[in-house]
Amino acid sequence: MSFPESFLTELTARSDIVEVVSSYVRLSKKSGSNLFGLCPFHSEKTPSFSVSPDKQIYHCFGCGKGGGVINFIMEIENLSFPEAVEFLARRANMPVPEQENDRESKKRSRMLALNRDAARFFYEQLSAPGGAPARDYMKRRQIGRAAATNFGLGYAPDTWDALRSAMKAKGYTDFELFDAGLVRRGKSGGFYDTFRKRLMFPVIDVRGSVIGFSGRILGDGEPKYMNSPETLTFNKSRNLFALNLAKKSKSGYIILSEGNIDVVSLHQAGFDSAVASLGTSLTPEQARLISRYTGEVIIAYDNDGAGVKAAQRAIGILEKLELKVRVLRLEGAKDPDEYIKLKGPEAFRKLLEGSEDQIDYRLRSITDKYVLSEPDQKVAFLKEATDLLARLPGAVERQVYAMRVAEMAGVKGEAVADEVERRRKRILSAAQKREERTKNSPEHQLQPEEKSFRYEDPASAAAEEGLVRLIYLEPALAAEPTLPEPEEFTAPVLAHIYRVLLDKARRGDSLSTATLGGELSGQEMSLLVQLLQKPERLSGGKTALQDYIARIKDARDEKNGRQDLIAYMKKQREKMGIEE
Ligand code: UTP
Ligand code: MN
Repeated sequence: MSFPESFLTELTARSDIVEVVSSYVRLSKKSGSNLFGLCPFHSEKTPSFSVSPDKQIYHCFGCGKGGGVINFIMEIENLSFPEAVEFLARRANMPVPEQENDRESKKRSRMLALNRDAARFFYEQLSAPGGAPARDYMKRRQIGRAAATNFGLGYAPDTWDALRSAMKAKGYTDFELFDAGLVRRGKSGGFYDTFRKRLMFPVIDVRGSVIGFSGRILGDGEPKYMNSPETLTFNKSRNLFALNLAKKSKSGYIILSEGNIDVVSLHQAGFDSAVASLGTSLTPEQARLISRYTGEVIIAYDNDGAGVKAAQRAIGILEKLELKVRVLRLEGAKDPDEYIKLKGPEAFRKLLEGSEDQIDYRLRSITDKYVLSEPDQKVAFLKEATDLLARLPGAVERQVYAMRVAEMAGVKGEAVADEVERRRKRILSAAQKREERTKNSPEHQLQPEEKSFRYEDPASAAAEEGLVRLIYLEPALAAEPTLPEPEEFTAPVLAHIYRVLLDKARRGDSLSTATLGGELSGQEMSLLVQLLQKPERLSGGKTALQDYIARIKDARDEKNGRQDLIAYMKKQREKMGIEE
């Protein structure tokens, strides 16, 4: 582990979970000693997010997330374990001890230094004599000197090893360059520069570190962009191009576009809150990251079929986080860059001010599909439009838009409004039935809430859960000689948690969400906290232990028994010559 245990213990003691959570979630007392509030990790109307001041843990009964104060910060601030520790240490005014022998984090900071040096090298090449092709290309695309400085744009020269030799001269090895994705390995085993003859866009995270690169070809050709591969520092789905700049904007919203060039062009025209996802469609992680900086997102995707599809997906993801979403229609241009070039920044500003909210936008995409003068198409339009409106949470909203739809189709307003309400009732009651069915099914009650963990053998898993809970609450029991090995568990996730707990308990380390945070994943921690919600008979700890062990063994015997029986029957069948 990278932090001394005594430090983590003191840090969590000084970071009361109720205080920390309260700066993100409004908590109120509901029952017992626990506090409740609206879960910050999924959208809900009634509070199912609980915080226990006694146990210093949180748990959401709705989405299953849970953990200690460090997990909470990791989750809500989108930070790694060491980053969350630093975050809390700053808050508690505690110096962070030098991380001992943490190879991973040393490697990471070395890679960040390399990336920074590489970015500087590319930047310098832009003004060097060899940089003329890039300067010409920028002129053609109307990217000015100031934008280049603002974004740290650069040029990767047209040679096989310009970057490589410059970085080796600074003391980096081929392997470090390779791990950072800056060089590739040829067939003969030699290394050569990944990025050649490209306009370089450094990708900078919100802390200001250069985490990777995106390089555009100068002109036409394939591939148009080359991006850094996934590395220790670069994760495409968790970062956005230019968020480091956009987060400082005073505009109050974030403009989400598709291309790097669009972003540069937008900033240059004064729209300093533009970002782009890095060649992927918007991911939930990126959306969460955005939601840390703004409550409103304006989508300015390309004006083509793919752009419309991507916008619709993005709307869904952003709305889950209760962000206000608007969508721009870039009429007469293929993307924001072209729009600004053709019509000027003022026209774009007008577009921003008058941009449609997402209901308008969706309605219009439905309208565009049908010819409303054709009776059967009109019916299909009404069906799709009322279905959309039926899902709007606000009654007034439903009414207003029903009138608009009626107008478009040339039918009576009340008729549409009634149909919307009828549909809404049907949708709600179907959803309710579905929810009850799954909640009440026995399998659901025996399963962890995190869907990616399914227990194959719920009976054994229930006892395995019990063992995990007991060891956590009563680490002394880890010395019991009759304990099963983790390999004997049927649920791999429980086996892993159990192994970590046993190792720590047997070393005499303390077990807490803080000391476990470095070794259990967020999902594992959530599961552990979920297990801790169930009551445990601590007074008779040893008896309970033997009981769980027996149940795990029984489940195994039963399974073996079943298998024996199956094998026996198979043999019998074969004997009698019966085909399967
Ligand atoms: P675009 O093709 O729209 O590029 O791809 P662009 O940045 O707007 O450039 P221009 O204006 O056409 O010159 C949008 C984004 O998708 C990613 C890049 O991040 C790009 O900015 N992309 C695109 C790739 O990762 N690889 C590619 O081959 C193409
Ligand atoms: Mn584009």
